[in-house]
Amino acid sequence: MKARLDLTSPSFLADPYPAYAVLRAEAEAVPVDPGGMWAVTAFDRVVEVLKRPEVFSSEPSEHDRERLFERAFGGANMIASDNPTHDRLRGILHKRFTPARMRSLAGRIDALCRELLDDVADEPEFDLVSAFTVPLPVIIISELLGVERHRIGDFKRWSNGLVAIINGASGEAREQALAEVFELAGYLAAAADRRRAAASDDLIGLLVAAEREPGRLSAGEVLSYCILLLAAGNETTTNLLGGLATALAANPDQIERLERDPALIERAVEEGLRYCSPVQGLFRRVHADTRLGDTTIPAGSRVWVSYGAANHDPDRFAEPDRFDIDRDCRGHVGFGWGLHFCLGSHLARTEARVALTHLVPLLRRAELDTPVPWLPSWVVRGPQALLVRRVA
Ligand code: HEM
Repeated sequence: MKARLDLTSPSFLADPYPAYAVLRAEAEAVPVDPGGMWAVTAFDRVVEVLKRPEVFSSEPSEHDRERLFERAFGGANMIASDNPTHDRLRGILHKRFTPARMRSLAGRIDALCRELLDDVADEPEFDLVSAFTVPLPVIIISELLGVERHRIGDFKRWSNGLVAIINGASGEAREQALAEVFELAGYLAAAADRRRAAASDDLIGLLVAAEREPGRLSAGEVLSYCILLLAAGNETTTNLLGGLATALAANPDQIERLERDPALIERAVEEGLRYCSPVQGLFRRVHADTRLGDTTIPAGSRVWVSYGAANHDPDRFAEPDRFDIDRDCRGHVGFGWGLHFCLGSHLARTEARVALTHLVPLLRRAELDTPVPWLPSWVVRGPQALLVRRVA
């Protein structure tokens, strides 16, 4: 019998793309570890799964780790809900994340990029991750939610706890991560209480206002909503920016072209979403025996839908392992597809486009330390640290 691929193995975490090619060639869905989940890796099959939410459910089973959040905060969140709950929850803030609204944040994002890079302007070498790619999205989403800037360090720590649990932390690491998550919940519950006493126009304020309308949102769902926005918006954008910096540093000719023609930045961001796939894969659950092509996935199975593998499927993108800003990569699944398509996609795109206008001139006159240490995660992918050394 063929050994199952283990997504936690160091070789997979260092470079998952060769393993995706093996899985794609094997079958439409292949059991992998941890836990015998069924990995779906071909572009067309990934889209098929995402287009059938009534069959491939996003709701965790009683035993899944995500259920823990629902139990802990007393409310569902949209990413882990099917309809009708999903649409009820998504509809509450949907209009707050439109392209026009997000583009209107470009000035603030630009000022923040300057501020963060000014802080390291005199350093001959610095870590781009801790100085720039981590604080940028955390500060922006915190400002949108309406949380105080001095708590930003705490937010990063708390959001790390969330990611650690989703990634399957065990033993002491899990205990530590749980403590972070409960601290976060305590902070957010107090913040929501302040809006119950005095209304505000930030995202927490809007959620609390929805809570007042009968049947629209429970107090537990207010909390879960905030936690989802923090978790979904931070690590992901950080990983896109770090992944883009790494890809560009390996392709200096493309940095030169971006410097000469900033109109190409939009394409570079889309190619970054495809090539880096900051969210490598997420979960679905089938409640009945389900056929995917020639493969039957048994009732009750957990399915791992790999956006990263789909975005590197040579049947959909020619020479997929090449970073190429000239490529037409429309239709990539870096933000998912269909019902659960990323609510924050326009925010992430705006952040990345503005950030690149600062990173391109920086990278043009700098070297990145290699090899890059990647996060030890099969759910999200990005550099843990990026040492930038300025050159004359
Ligand atoms: C480069 C950055 C980002 C990437 C790669 C990314 C990726 C994704 C992906 C793949 C999904 C689909 C989940 C699924 O199929 O189950 C998703 C959903 C979601 N994302 Fe993002 N995301 C990013 C940034 C953000 C930001 C900045 C926010 C914050 C506002 C955000 C909030 C969400 C939410 C709330 C959902 C759930 C949508 C739903 O279930 O309807 N994301 N994201």
